[in-house]
Amino acid sequence: MEILKKFASQFGKPEGILGNIAGRLMASTGVQKNKWTVSLLNIQSTDNVLEIGFGPGVATELVSNVIHEGHYVGIDYSKVMLQQAKNRNKEAIQEGKVTLKLEEVSNVPSFELKFDKVFSVNSIIFWEDPVKSLKKIRQIMKPNGLIALTVLPYMKGATEETSKKLGKDIVSYLEQAGFSNIKTELKKKKPVTAICVLGVNS
Ligand SMILES: C[S@@+](CC[C@H](N)C(=O)[O-])C[C@H]1O[C@@H](n2cnc3c(N)ncnc32)[C@H](O)[C@@H]1O
Repeated sequence: MEILKKFASQFGKPEGILGNIAGRLMASTGVQKNKWTVSLLNIQSTDNVLEIGFGPGVATELVSNVIHEGHYVGIDYSKVMLQQAKNRNKEAIQEGKVTLKLEEVSNVPSFELKFDKVFSVNSIIFWEDPVKSLKKIRQIMKPNGLIALTVLPYMKGATEETSKKLGKDIVSYLEQAGFSNIKTELKKKKPVTAICVLGVNS
């Protein structure tokens, strides 16, 4: 049981051998929810895009295939995930289209560029102070920039109620951080409905 608990905890901050395995599992099972989130952002070739909690770098790859004049920046606080995402996105990094950084979301730095689109998939549930971090993120977004925060609860015992509650919490975080035009999108998934909450930096 102890090893199972240890493994489950690896999804919040993958570390060591178990973290490596968790990252591989995320990469093989997480493609659809990442594709869905990226599709909701309607990313354009010129967009600058920020992702928080890129994990194994699946969405990094999806976004870098779309942006040509824009730039993708990803931050994640796990060294193991940084390495996996770097391996998966070697070419785009070499081309200068993708930057991956080891960083905790509460310390999200300023960049030379401002972001048109920001997103995160199954990461916000692990952030210590989501409102504080979202306020910081808003500072580095362009006016009218769009944010998309997706959660698909996969923890033991998760129900449709869990999804609904998480969705409501994220709406509230975005409101408190000053985002507007907030809307919630749903997608039937297993084990329960996935939720993506979108907001505009206006
Ligand atoms: C469950 S994984 C999801 C990974 C990826 N988005 C996906 O869908 O495959 C959560 C990721 O968020 C990262 N993360 C969690 N809390 C974070 C924080 N406070 N700051 C930066 N990264 C964080 C973890 O290291 C992990 O890579």
